[in-house]
This record gives sequence, C-alpha cells and structure tokens, in this order.
Amino acid sequence: MIRKPIILLTGGAGYIGSHTYVALTEAQFQPLILDDFSNSNPVVLDRLERITGQAVPCHRGSVLNTELVAELLKVHAIEAVVHFAGFKAVGESVAQPLKYFDNNLGGMISLLKAMENAACHTLVFSSSATVYGDPATVPITEDFPRSHTNPYGHTKLVCEDMIAAVCQANAAWRAGVLRYFNPVGAHPSGLIGEDPNGPPNNLMPYVSQVAVGKRPFLHVFGNDYPTPDGTGVRDYIHVQDLAQAHVAALQALLLGDNGFTVNIGTGQGYSVLDVVSAFEQASGKPVPYQLAPRRPGDVARCYADPALARHLLSWSANHTLLSMCEDTWRWQSNNPEGYRLLE
Ligand code: UFG
Repeated sequence: MIRKPIILLTGGAGYIGSHTYVALTEAQFQPLILDDFSNSNPVVLDRLERITGQAVPCHRGSVLNTELVAELLKVHAIEAVVHFAGFKAVGESVAQPLKYFDNNLGGMISLLKAMENAACHTLVFSSSATVYGDPATVPITEDFPRSHTNPYGHTKLVCEDMIAAVCQANAAWRAGVLRYFNPVGAHPSGLIGEDPNGPPNNLMPYVSQVAVGKRPFLHVFGNDYPTPDGTGVRDYIHVQDLAQAHVAALQALLLGDNGFTVNIGTGQGYSVLDVVSAFEQASGKPVPYQLAPRRPGDVARCYADPALARHLLSWSANHTLLSMCEDTWRWQSNNPEGYRLLE
C-alpha cells in the first residue's frame, strides 16, 4: 500500500483548518491536527469524522511547545506543515498587542525551530490580504507594497519575513505563503463552519446571525466610500475554494516547487449591500440593517488579482457569492449555537 503523505495542520480544528482537513483527506493526504482549542471546539472532530468516515488524528497541544512539535514531526515522519494556528481579531490585537505578538510571532518562531530541528522543511502559511494595508489601487497583485495598520496585520507581515529569512538561510526550505482575502461559507454538509465567540467581528457571520434571528439587525459600517453603492467592497472567497488552494500549494511544494507567495481570492469585489441581498436570496429571510459610521481602519476596496495562483498552482476559485451564502446559511440554520452543544 502506498503511504499517504502526512501533513501537520497547526490550528487544524479551526474554521479554515477544518475545511482544509477534509479537502486534504479527499486528495489522499493524511492530515494530523495539532490544536490547543483556545479558539475552536473539540466537537469539530466528531463532525470531521462524520464527513470523512475515518478517525480524525488530533493532538491537543500548543504550537508554542517547540519540543512537542518537533517530536510530532519526527514520530509521524511528517512531510509538510500547514500553519493556521494564530489569533485573528483585529480589534482585540489593538487592545492586547502582546497577546498577538506572543502567540502569532512566538508560535511562528517555535514552529520554524521545531521544523528545522526535525529536518521537515516544507511549510504552507496562512497569511492575509491585511499585509497590503490600504492598497493604492485594485485589483491587488503580489508585488504591491506591504504595510500594516494594526498588531494583527503586523504579525502576518513579520511571519512572512521570518519565513523568507529561513528560506534564504537554508536551501532545503520550501514555503508557500497564501494571502487569504475574505474567507466565508461552509462545507456543503452543513456540519462544519465558522463559529465565532461572542458577537462576530466579520460581515458574513454577523449577517447569518441576523438572518437566523440571533441579532436584530446589521450595522453597515459606512455608506460614503468611493464605491458603487458607498459601502465597503471585499473579495469574499468560499472556504471550500480556499481549502483547495492549500491542497494545490502542498502538491506543488511536494513535487519540488521552491516556494511562492500568492493571493488567494476570486478577483471579484462585492459590497456589503451585495452580501446582504445575496444572503436574503439564499436564506429566504430578511436581513434588516442600519447605517452606522465607518469602522476605524477599514479600507474602501480590497480585492485580489488571482492570476499568479492560477499560473503557479493551477488553482482558481469557482464558487459564486450565492453559493457562499447558501452554504453559510445551511451551517447557521442547522447549528444556531455553532459547536456549543445544546443542553
Ligand atoms: N462590515 C459591516 N458590518 C459588520 C461587519 C463588517 O458593515 O458588522 C463591513 C466592513 O466595514 C467591511 C466589510 O463588511 O466593509 C467586510 O468586513 P469584515 O470584517 O468581514 O472583513 P475585513 O475585510 O474588514 O477583514 C478581513 C479579515 C481580517 C483581515 C482583513 C484584511 O477579517 O482578518 O480582512 O485582509 F485583516
């Protein structure tokens, strides 16, 4: 029997990690989850087992524990790591920067040390369009200048630089940096999805909680942007497409690609009001909203030029905004309390 390549997913129980787990399993990889469940719920493991029909290997622990990670890499002869583990709330990072520096930068350093120690040199990293700051124009290509407007964004930028430095120092490294735009949606089974703690910071989970009746209305942050309807424009990408991008990145690296930094988006921008009307169509529920002031730090328009990922990885997104909303709605309406088990 041919041995499936074993891939360590740090933060593999989280929103993007769990969807990538399924995609990797279907692509004949053997993913292994490392998660401390600080921002995820162990119930996701049961759901993954139901979707894949197989036991879900998972180790509870922190990526900050370098010895533990090195041990896992060696014992399981892991071929590559996908590093999802990290905090991602912009506002929280402004209030608690050290929490972000400690976890996101400390986690990256710990992981790189463990990988070097175990001679595992193949890495895919979850970066973000946040590294483009306030882009001068759209669509955004990978050679745009990088900047940061909050500690969370700063950690993504510094992690990219740390990866570049280790690749420079040792030619054995192969790293794929994926700059995600706005991940939304859920697995079509409705069994896994995004499960924010408390009021969602992001648009799609907030809209879905309004549609399901958990929140009375959406605040639309600003309607005086220089966009067609005045509301912010973003590149929403279905998490299923995003999961496939990780499969494509790993396949390229394991076939010998030296490494790349690519945008992972659709190339299509939609406004807040576009999302509201698509969600109403998908759910059949009204999504009332009220206009509110701009949210500090928001940019008017942010969408990708995804040509480089198509060229290098033969990957492109193919889900529509309507299917992103339909899958989000299936997850939300089947699991109104997310993974929290109802008494
Ligand atoms: N918005 C609202 N009401 C809400 C939430 C969001 O009107 O309740 C608007 C925002 O103003 C923005 C759009 O919806 O115009 C999208 O906002 P999100 O918070 O969903 O996404 P962002 O583009 O602000 O943030 C995302 C990621 C961050 C990342 C950033 C830049 O969540 O991690 O993209 O890449 F830093």
